[in-house]
Amino acid sequence: MQDRKIMLSEREMPLSWYNILPDLPTPLSPPLHPATHQPIGPEALQPIFPEALIEQEVSSQSTISIPEEVLDVYRLWRPTPLVRALGLEKKLNTPAKIFYKNEGVSPPGSHKPNTAVAQAYYNRQAGVKRLATETGAGQWGSALAFACNHFGLECTVYMVKVSYQQKPYRKSMMHVWGAEVIPSPSPKTKAGQDILAKDPDSLGSLGIAISEAIEDAVQHADTKYALGSVLNHVLLHQTIIGLETQQQFKKIGLQPDILVGCCGGGSNFAGLALPYVREKINGRNLRIIAVEPTACPSLTRGEFRYDFGDTAHLTPLLKMFTLGHDFVPPGIHAGGLRYHGASPIVSNLLHNGIIEAVGCKQTAVFESALLFARTEGIIPAPESAHAIHCVIEEAEKCREAGEEKVIVFSLSGHGHFDLASYDSFLANQLQDYEYPEEKIKEALSELPVID
Ligand SMILES: Cc1ncc(COP(=O)(O)O)c(C=O)c1O
Repeated sequence: MQDRKIMLSEREMPLSWYNILPDLPTPLSPPLHPATHQPIGPEALQPIFPEALIEQEVSSQSTISIPEEVLDVYRLWRPTPLVRALGLEKKLNTPAKIFYKNEGVSPPGSHKPNTAVAQAYYNRQAGVKRLATETGAGQWGSALAFACNHFGLECTVYMVKVSYQQKPYRKSMMHVWGAEVIPSPSPKTKAGQDILAKDPDSLGSLGIAISEAIEDAVQHADTKYALGSVLNHVLLHQTIIGLETQQQFKKIGLQPDILVGCCGGGSNFAGLALPYVREKINGRNLRIIAVEPTACPSLTRGEFRYDFGDTAHLTPLLKMFTLGHDFVPPGIHAGGLRYHGASPIVSNLLHNGIIEAVGCKQTAVFESALLFARTEGIIPAPESAHAIHCVIEEAEKCREAGEEKVIVFSLSGHGHFDLASYDSFLANQLQDYEYPEEKIKEALSELPVID
């Protein structure tokens, strides 16, 4: 009999996160001040983040211990199962062995609480009373609401308007955990007011919602800001995914040949990939693929240069693959992948040729999601379905070539709150978007020119 699930006991859960910063092939370019364009030190982040997270953002230590209180909350759902997708393999008639790391088993339903719990903990330790944040698909907002509820913090979530309308139950979930949820752009902040003055029907974007949440945090002394992706400390917390996966593969005496993750800001992809990037840098041969929508193609069609993380120029300038901070992607159903930029760490690895990136069209992604749901039972989040689509293509290549490769992907979340998008797909109402080159050029022309 072939085991489907490779489990770790709670006692086998990693006790430290892995920090890739000292191992990167080239150092990250420094963040720049949004107005002066001069390099800024970590102290510039003090108005929005507590000291412990700022230290992690720039740390040169390879491993950072996970606090006991954070481990205790992780144990509610971690270690997560590594599952062999036997049903999918059979359907594809592929010799490839396909595995998925199921992060959808957490209470909010995705990988996001891996960092939400850590961030809420460090903020509580620093005496912060409230956290403000943005959310795209609603997964990050619900993860932070869950974490704030656990550590007794208030939580305000600016939710991208298109998702607020498409996913009313994500909002209910945040309310259950006690958070306040505001559709973005909102009249509550200057950043929101400016956007609404230009376009009262704006669908919103992560870039706009980030501006609103940062403005809220900066204006209230008891409030800090929490980001669900992109930054180094967020990716650090997510490495628990890849560290567990390494132990799970060790148990069955296999090594992955291909790693796949969907990429919005880059946190679930990096969470799975970074511990393996260390192996690759040390000489192991493996492919690591980030998958994004063709409707928001920052890694595959963006440029590697300095840009703002938000629309209102409140964040420092980060060197990353970007489509330009004014880029407002179409309202595709993978709301969590509608971000104009990408994490500086992921961008650095792509620029250095250590990872690859591919773009997928929405309808093909939903076809793959359906195949997965009908062979493995789990209804994936539309974001995670991007990874599934790429895995299916790779497994089909293995079939053509007769190769028995081991493929693993991050199933970053379940799609139980995305059923309206499945309804649209089943009713043939979903469209594909390939962003026109001139629109991308237009958004990139607004970028500051920095040598
Ligand atoms: C289920 C799921 N997967 C992936 C993402 C993309 O984010 P990241 O690239 O940071 O993993 C999101 C973002 O909201 C998400 O909800």
